[in-house]
Amino acid sequence: MTAHMKHDQPDERNVLDHMAQGIIGKSLDRPEGLLKVSGTATYAAEYVIDGCLEGVIVTSTCARGKVTSIDKQSVMSMPGVVDVINEPRMIARPAQGTANEAPEHKVGEIHYWGQPVALVVAETIEQARDAAKNLVIEYAPALAEFNPEDVVPEPQPDGTNEGDLNQAMEGADQCVDLTFTTEGHASAAMEPHAAIAQWDGKMLTVHASLQMLNYNIAELADALKLKQSQIRLISRYVGGGFGSKLGISEEVVAASVAAMVLDRPVRVVMSRQQVFQTIMRRSETRQRVRLSAKADGTFTGIGHEAVVSNLPGEEFAEPVTQSTDFLYAGDNRIMQIAVARIHRMTAGSVRAPGEAVGMPALEAAIDELAEKLGIDPIELRLRNLPDKHPVEGTPYSSRKLAECLTQGAKSFGWKKGKRTPRSRREGEWWIGTGVASAARVHNVGEAKARVTLRDDGTALVETDMTDIGTGTYAILGQIAGEMLGLNPDAVDVQLGDTKHPRGPGSGGSWGAASIGSAVFLACEAIRKELAGRAKVKAEKLTLKDGQIGTGKFSLPLTELIGGKSISVIGHYEPGAVEKNFVASGYGAFFAEVAVNHWTGETRVRRMTGAFGFGRVLNAKTARSQCIGGMVWCIGSALTEALHFDPNDGHLVNCDLAEYHVPVHRDIPDLDVIMVEERDPVASLIQAKGIGELGMCGGAGAIANAIYNACGARMHAFPMTPDKVLSAMPD
Ligand code: MOS
Repeated sequence: MTAHMKHDQPDERNVLDHMAQGIIGKSLDRPEGLLKVSGTATYAAEYVIDGCLEGVIVTSTCARGKVTSIDKQSVMSMPGVVDVINEPRMIARPAQGTANEAPEHKVGEIHYWGQPVALVVAETIEQARDAAKNLVIEYAPALAEFNPEDVVPEPQPDGTNEGDLNQAMEGADQCVDLTFTTEGHASAAMEPHAAIAQWDGKMLTVHASLQMLNYNIAELADALKLKQSQIRLISRYVGGGFGSKLGISEEVVAASVAAMVLDRPVRVVMSRQQVFQTIMRRSETRQRVRLSAKADGTFTGIGHEAVVSNLPGEEFAEPVTQSTDFLYAGDNRIMQIAVARIHRMTAGSVRAPGEAVGMPALEAAIDELAEKLGIDPIELRLRNLPDKHPVEGTPYSSRKLAECLTQGAKSFGWKKGKRTPRSRREGEWWIGTGVASAARVHNVGEAKARVTLRDDGTALVETDMTDIGTGTYAILGQIAGEMLGLNPDAVDVQLGDTKHPRGPGSGGSWGAASIGSAVFLACEAIRKELAGRAKVKAEKLTLKDGQIGTGKFSLPLTELIGGKSISVIGHYEPGAVEKNFVASGYGAFFAEVAVNHWTGETRVRRMTGAFGFGRVLNAKTARSQCIGGMVWCIGSALTEALHFDPNDGHLVNCDLAEYHVPVHRDIPDLDVIMVEERDPVASLIQAKGIGELGMCGGAGAIANAIYNACGARMHAFPMTPDKVLSAMPD
């Protein structure tokens, strides 16, 4: 049985608010938590499979050109070496998660330094690695562009141009015209990309670390010219994705090809360096932000133009202006993205693509405008919240931005009034505070999940949806438990296997809202079936702790099931509400920093994030998501940057020692406020995306705090000590 619903109308019933079990939103532990912290959760590379060979990818040491020869014989006599494989179908460029097809592969063409060119397969990993290092490959290099500043960027077709921004700037009482830069980012997931492939002549089984099995199976089928029914992908646990595992990448294809060619299981694990140099990056950006305002702070114009980069031919363009589009008022508007075509590894989705780098620039510009206007920066934002989408005129589904700003300010202890830089010093440290808004578009995807209420009164949830560390196992157990009146312990959640119904995958923060809605639909249908068996209306049922009550009688659920389990596939489909409303998560960040007068070092001393993202399904996993996002804010504000060699285009800082993500010592107490909200448009469970919102704008709050602390106005992220020192007034 299937329970299908297309989300064409807002669902105002808020069903989950009226259930008896009372576990939705509770701060419950992850069911798989113990496995993870005890090291017994099995990740992709960790399956023990008899006779498994080890493959090591060999990557290009030339940024552009052609492979002219691969001398297989140079390594075939080395110990343990089984084969060197460089089939065209294997040399996939990283796919984007939104594509149903793997990109075209042209044999032997090199597009970036670090591109996979061959796979060396041996009996042990050491033998394979040794041989990979010794494999003789020759290239015919071609001229490459490495610097986005050296090429003329191509404007994207879908910009916004409303009114006359130049005129608005000229006629403004106050305005700012600022150019910000952000550096490239790596996803920096802890678990390296890994796959083990097994081929039995008909069926390919691949354990891999992937975010979007529903798309990945199509991509892999396309790359290998197999039917989807010949492939089973398994990703039960994923040690972080952050965008890097949205699409299948080379380790999955390479392991699969090798397993099929050699007729033995093959494991391919990327080294940390390969993950950095081969897997997609977040583009660096150059952003011009223009704001014009009347003396009372009302915006008359807003411009956000960005240059990003990608390889020639790649579709993805970091959507820097995504939230600027609808966030603030201003009749005269320009939003435009242009792409510089350069030869670095593919640019793609990394941790909140767009807003993660666009919002900090916008929010830092607003801070400068607030200073010029002499208006409190929170007040200035509050004065510019439009009633509806400033261009399209569509209503907001729900928006708690004002509440986040005011509640966050209260909890943080924000002091209203004149803000003078360098007004607080403790020894050699300047102390200051800053604020920024958060926004991240909300999306949903088509989702299917099977829910079975079993004979023994327990439930089973099955979907190929993944849990990438986000809490999917926990929240699906809670939704099913709430709807069926079961303790979450009595709900077995099975994820990450394409033998199950297709989920939406984990990406773009759409996971929980989408798959949660599918589970909800299945459970609603099960309640209906139970009501039929009890001969009452579904609304009359009370399901709690394995008991079913009808108002007239109460009995154990197992008696009503009576040996006949009920199984329903919930099928949620995005619908017209997507077009009829603007849906986004909102929030506000408050940061207090200390900046060292002599060294320019910035320490974040405390940070508050207040967020409104619809219904909270699990307060603990939601809070963890917010904290994770705020950690990335600190990273992108202060330390994170990809550095490329200007001579040969290779990524220089390709490990977690040289690519600086924040460590424990960098993170102070982070305070998270979750503002109560129900969003009937966002999903059938009134929840919006949470995952990425926490990193959308916070780096701006830190930049603003640095200025308030020491008077250094900077426009280049990350704000490393050298930049702070040179921008600091004497
Ligand atoms: Mo996300 S960067 O869409 O995994």
